[in-house]
Amino acid sequence: MADLTPLLAFRWSPRSFDPDAELAGDEASSLLEAARWAPSAGNAQPWRFALGHRQDETWKRILVSLAAGDQHWVRHASALVVGAHTGGDAERAAYDLGQAIAHLTVQATALGLHVHQLTRFDRAGLAAELDLSPEVRPVVVAAVGRLGDPLALPEELRRQETGLRHRHPLPTLLLR
Ligand SMILES: Cc1cc2nc3c(=O)[nH]c(=O)nc-3n(C[C@H](O)[C@H](O)[C@H](O)COP(=O)(O)O)c2cc1C
Repeated sequence: MADLTPLLAFRWSPRSFDPDAELAGDEASSLLEAARWAPSAGNAQPWRFALGHRQDETWKRILVSLAAGDQHWVRHASALVVGAHTGGDAERAAYDLGQAIAHLTVQATALGLHVHQLTRFDRAGLAAELDLSPEVRPVVVAAVGRLGDPLALPEELRRQETGLRHRHPLPTLLLR
């Protein structure tokens, strides 16, 4: 395998977050700044974000929109970031939002943080909880925090957490 920059090589999506770790204000700003400086088609910057710190009102409103099985581990994350987009061309806006979240994830790795993105949540419920206007479409919830103890997870999740990660071999991804 070709070498990757450590910022990419060390990124992965844990379910074990340290329940005592908090996200400092400057860390949160740095994550959102990374997202803000992502490229976008026509520099449209169609992304919008909501940030909740553990146990604050926004965090609780985001958490309840997640599937019950995910809430169980996501509640240990230090912060939850909702990634939403605006704009007429939803496909283009979703692509741009994905890049912004990817930038956020790389910045998180640089800060010693981990991110687990989730698209399994009640979009209409979250939009209502956050009182979003109709043109703002929430697409992803990113759980952000510091690594916790995988042994504290239920057995099934622990196995996933400690198992090998897989990717398709590169040659199978090349169209020609
Ligand atoms: C857009 C997106 C949506 C995801 N949604 C979920 C989800 O709903 N639940 C979940 O447990 N993981 C979710 N994940 C995490 C992926 O399962 C994970 O990134 C993938 O298995 C690769 O693992 P890695 O991030 O550790 O490399 C999501 C990731 C992305 C990028």
